[in-house]
Amino acid sequence: MTTDQSAHRLAVLGAGVMGTSIATLAIGHGVPVVLVDIDRAALDRARATIAGQLRHAQLMAALPADRAPGELVTSGSVRDAADATAVIEAVTELTESKATALAEASAVIRPGTPLISNTSGIPIDEMADWAERPRELLGTHFMNPPYLIRMVEVIRGPRTGDAAMAAAATLLTALNRQAVVVRDAPGFVTSRLLHPMINNAARIVGEGTASVESVDELMQGCLGHPTGPLRTADLIGLDNLVDSLNVLHKRTGDESCRPCEPLLAKVRNGDLGRKTGRGFYDYGKAMP
Ligand SMILES: NC(=O)c1ccc[n+]([C@@H]2O[C@H](COP(=O)([O-])OP(=O)(O)OC[C@H]3O[C@@H](n4cnc5c(N)ncnc54)[C@H](O)[C@@H]3O)[C@@H](O)[C@H]2O)c1
Repeated sequence: MTTDQSAHRLAVLGAGVMGTSIATLAIGHGVPVVLVDIDRAALDRARATIAGQLRHAQLMAALPADRAPGELVTSGSVRDAADATAVIEAVTELTESKATALAEASAVIRPGTPLISNTSGIPIDEMADWAERPRELLGTHFMNPPYLIRMVEVIRGPRTGDAAMAAAATLLTALNRQAVVVRDAPGFVTSRLLHPMINNAARIVGEGTASVESVDELMQGCLGHPTGPLRTADLIGLDNLVDSLNVLHKRTGDESCRPCEPLLAKVRNGDLGRKTGRGFYDYGKAMP
C-alpha cells in the first residue's frame, strides 16, 4: 500500500454512525469505498448522510479541497469487499455481530489485506479467533466524527503482524490521520477512561445531584471537556454506549462499567441520542 490515494480501495462494514462517517473521511480524501450493511435502510440513509457530512467537512476545511471524491458503492453483501485493499469493520458492538462480519470478510478478501476493526473495546486478540488469518487483524479506534478528529487510537493485538500494522499506517497517512499505537486490552485507553466517566455522569443525574446541563457545564467549564460527557453520550449513541459498557464490565469486572439504570431506561424508551432525535438532550429530529 502507498500514500497515493488512488492505490486504495476501502471496504467499510456497517453503515451506522461510525461506518458512515469513516466512509465520508475516505471518500473526501479521494479513496473509493464499498459500504456494506445487512440493513438496506441503513445503506439508504448513509448515502444522504455522507453527502451532508462531505459538505460539512468542506465548510470546516477538514478535507482536501483539491481532490475528486472517491466513488461510493453501497452493498448488502460482503462479497463486494473482495477486491478491497483494506477492510474496516464498524458493525454493532456485539460479539456475535463482530464474529459474523469478520469471518465473512476474511473468507472473501485476498490474503495480505489488512482487516481492521473499529471496535470500542472488544480485545483484538479475542476477535482474531474469528478471522481466517489472525496476523492480518488490528484495531483502529476512530473518534466520532472520524472526518473531523484527526487522532486515531491504533491497537496492535499480540498476534497482529508487522505487514498489517504497516498497511494500516499507510492507509491512515493517506487519510491524513495521526495514529497513536497502544497494546491490546478491554476498552484500550480511550474507552476504558471515557465510558465509565459517561456512565457515572448519567448515574449522578439519576441520583438527582445535578441536571444534565449542569453536569456538562461543570465538566466543560471546570475540567475543560470539549462538550460535556452527556452531550458526548448522545453523539456516540446510547445503545452503542450500553453495548460498550457491557463489553468492559464483562471483561474487567469493574462495577463502574456496569450500565446504570438511567442509561438503560433511555435505551429501553428508544431515546438513543442524536441518531433518534432525543437522548439526554432533545434535538427535535434525528441528527446524522
Ligand atoms: N458511535 C461512536 O461514537 C463510536 C465511536 C468509536 C467506535 N465505535 C464503534 O464502532 C462500531 C460501530 O458503532 P456505531 O455507533 O456506528 O453503531 P451503529 O449501531 O450506529 O451501526 C452499526 C451498523 O452495523 C450493522 N451491522 C450489524 N451486523 C452487521 C454485519 N454482520 N455486517 C454488516 N453490517 C452489520 C447494523 O445494521 C448497523 O447499521 C462499534 O464497534 C462501536 O463500538 C463507535
